[in-house]
Amino acid sequence: MINIQKAAVIGCGFVGASIAYTLMQKGIFSELVLIDAVMEKAEGEAMDISHGLPFAHAMDIYAGTYADIADASILIITAGANQKEGETRLDLVQKNAGIMRSIIGNIRKTAFDGLLLIVSNPVDILTEVALRESGYPEERVIGSGTVLDTARLKYLISEELEIDSRNVHAFIVGEHGDSELAVWSCANIYGIPVEKFAELRRQKGFSEEMKEIYCSVRDSAYEIIKRKGATYYGIGMAAAKIAEALVRDSHTVAPVSVHLNGEYGLQDLCLSIPTVLGKNGAEQILEINFNEEEKRKLWHSAEELKKILARI
Ligand code: 2OP
Repeated sequence: MINIQKAAVIGCGFVGASIAYTLMQKGIFSELVLIDAVMEKAEGEAMDISHGLPFAHAMDIYAGTYADIADASILIITAGANQKEGETRLDLVQKNAGIMRSIIGNIRKTAFDGLLLIVSNPVDILTEVALRESGYPEERVIGSGTVLDTARLKYLISEELEIDSRNVHAFIVGEHGDSELAVWSCANIYGIPVEKFAELRRQKGFSEEMKEIYCSVRDSAYEIIKRKGATYYGIGMAAAKIAEALVRDSHTVAPVSVHLNGEYGLQDLCLSIPTVLGKNGAEQILEINFNEEEKRKLWHSAEELKKILARI
């Protein structure tokens, strides 16, 4: 019997710990299992976060094993190597695909019957690996995708236009990586296209800024890793937001990594497309009327991912 109030985080490195901390702060679950190849790491994170509970609210956070996940509603998988300076996410694929296969093998030995949220990179490839290895229905295996990239895009637009980032409607699709694309044709603030809005805010030459903003979004992880060695707060909050939408059945639309079966003329791979999220996972992949350039870039992103999928 699934306990909707229970989740597990598999992988307690910087990203997994940030997700656990964010989930505690948001009070989404009453029980959170932390699993790591190094039990002491999971124990340390569980202790450290638990000591903050008196400042937050009641919940049970503990280091556990795969024996503890059967009734969880969602497993959030962050295990794997993370990018080092100069590495792309795709450079991690061989090692992390092996780790993902091992984790899914362990999960399949349990009675777990909930949702999988893949965060490990390269997330689109590993979401497809998790789907194929688990044999779960496609809607139950989702990747964090370009949800973080979309937040970065909204933030950078908001900085440029001096507007609350929560009022910016814009999103990134495709690979969570170098071939991702910004869907500028759909970007707006309360229905006003961003370029028109920029004129209203007396921002000259915003179309040039759009190119710079896109490059800054695409390269954000590299810039952060160069400065602090890893990224984790942004992805931690993005993953927690996705988990919240899933378990609260909120029917939130987010650009998560999902398996395509012909949408946009693409199939047999996972990449990020705005999708309705609910208690059953990916409820509906939205088919949006991208312009010709955006369709071409999405196809290019898919081709890049398919080259990798063919090799693992
Ligand atoms: C990020 O984009 C590394 O994928 C992670 O921050």
